[in-house]
Amino acid sequence: MTSTSATPLFSPGLEGVVVGETRVSHVDGEHGTLIYRGYDIAALTNRPVLEVAWLLIFGDWPDAHQTQQFAQFTLACNQLTEAEQQLLRCLDKSLHPMLMLQAVVPTLQYQELAPLKLPDGSGAIHRGLAIAAKIPALLAAWLRLQNDLQPLTDADHLDPVENFLHQLHGTAPDTLAIETLNATQVLQMEHSYNASTFAGRVCASTNAPIQSVLSASIGTLFGSLHGGADQAALEMAQAIGAPEKAAAYVADCMQDKTKIMGMGHREYKTLDPRAAILKPMAADLCNDADSRRLFDTLVAVEDACQQHFAKSDKQIWANVEFYKGAVFHALGIPAHFFTGLFAMARAYGYIAHYAEFMQDPRLIRPRARYVGEKR
Ligand code: ACO
Repeated sequence: MTSTSATPLFSPGLEGVVVGETRVSHVDGEHGTLIYRGYDIAALTNRPVLEVAWLLIFGDWPDAHQTQQFAQFTLACNQLTEAEQQLLRCLDKSLHPMLMLQAVVPTLQYQELAPLKLPDGSGAIHRGLAIAAKIPALLAAWLRLQNDLQPLTDADHLDPVENFLHQLHGTAPDTLAIETLNATQVLQMEHSYNASTFAGRVCASTNAPIQSVLSASIGTLFGSLHGGADQAALEMAQAIGAPEKAAAYVADCMQDKTKIMGMGHREYKTLDPRAAILKPMAADLCNDADSRRLFDTLVAVEDACQQHFAKSDKQIWANVEFYKGAVFHALGIPAHFFTGLFAMARAYGYIAHYAEFMQDPRLIRPRARYVGEKR
């Protein structure tokens, strides 16, 4: 980063630049901690996703009445209309779920939104929450359409995680699956000024509507250096095939300067606290031979990376993406839907940042240093 009185601050990738303030969450990259509204993430994984979403957006826990109303609202918004199903059927079935989401989110219909009394009373937040409620239905319907099955419309569980698993697989899920997915969704819900949240704040700063903000954030989340690393990390482990091959794979990557997916983070200089929670979760869940081989391969890759990076002064550790795929794989979720599930959770974080940003909005418009011709 360079700055003199003559030249303003310049940092490629905005590394180390503070571009705003937030009360929503805090990443302490030196100590490896993450807090949502003051609570350590480890204390939140057992709380229902909708309660944590409310906490993030409105700054405090919902009371019993708000909890009930929010669950009913989310369930009411969760069903796709006939027109929305028709729209999905018109799309190319090979479209990645993240591209489908980015395209379809701004087209969702909300003329008849279910009532929900919100602490800040904003129509935009109401609409954002309706979109967040519909994302699970879009993903479940998209998987079923890709598999030549019709979207399910009869799942009516008040818990959105249970409802999603039912819509996705066509059968009511067991308690372990619900609790596990609940925990992963809480872990993925928010992460301060990450790239996709920042993209959403930039979009909001132009006065664009919340559906554009969510779509911009979803598009930014898709890349493999950000949310898309979950799918990439699992596919990497599948391609390596066995733990015995991990050390050679890592050595080749270091030689070629190929990034190991699910490793490294701009902010964390130690283990990502979410990876610390996901690793034992994956160890417990990966019981069948295929899942166990995947998990053991990931552990072997992590060990080989740690040995390699210990020799340099680089602080590169497993991030949230590294073991999450093993957890999702054990839950029967196909790899190309992993990032979609990330978006499903992070949508609430995006809404929290939108709500915060709109309290004191200002156009985000940085400056570039011109290095082109002067004629
Ligand atoms: N594997 C191997 N080397 C790595 C890795 C990695 N995963 N990550 C960083 N490095 C190395 C780089 O090659 C670079 O080495 P060099 O100085 O010799 O050129 C050095 O560490 C610094 O890396 P940068 O990419 O410049 O650091 P940055 O802060 O931009 O990287 C990033 C952060 C993009 C996440 C990076 O670690 C990466 O690409 N990881 C893999 C993709 C991934 O897992 N992304 C998900 C992040 S979590 C999330 O977004 C939800």
